[in-house]
Amino acid sequence: MKDKKILFVCLGNICRSPAAEGVMSALIEKEGLSESIRVDSAGTLGYHIGENADPRMKAHAEKRGYNLTSISRKFNPQKDFDEFDYIVTMDNSNYKEIKKNASNNEQKDKIFKMARFIKNHKVDEVPDPYYEGPEGFEYVLDIIEDGCKELLSKVKDEIKQSDKITN
Ligand code: 4NP
Repeated sequence: MKDKKILFVCLGNICRSPAAEGVMSALIEKEGLSESIRVDSAGTLGYHIGENADPRMKAHAEKRGYNLTSISRKFNPQKDFDEFDYIVTMDNSNYKEIKKNASNNEQKDKIFKMARFIKNHKVDEVPDPYYEGPEGFEYVLDIIEDGCKELLSKVKDEIKQSDKITN
């Protein structure tokens, strides 16, 4: 089985994308797919490099059983476009920023908006909770949980398709 790699991207890589990484990892583990689907996260801004996830995000995620372990890093176009199959951006500004860095159609085709996978909430992006109160963090987790389920289902379908082709 060929493995798939997902990179979640937000601005600071301390709130939304670490949350998406934690939620997706938990779903993948629950389904016994940790050997075939890998997850990571990054930010378009280098300001928080080396930091753990924001303590507020960590605490809200923990209440739902997610352990956020990521350390902030900056998106690296030279490496990340090659290494990852899906680059999933949290808001429209992250999407534009990553798109600007893509140097060909193959790279452009790897970039998705998280909102595209969010089925049960009416949203067009995952909003930045950094200057919000607790309800902002809870809302971000609600819509990330929603989107991760659909994204996982898409990735699983694509693994099945590529297994059919290679077997
Ligand atoms: P994130 O949230 O992009 O979800 O990690 C933010 C974290 C930090 C800043 C902005 C957004 N900041 O400007 O420092």
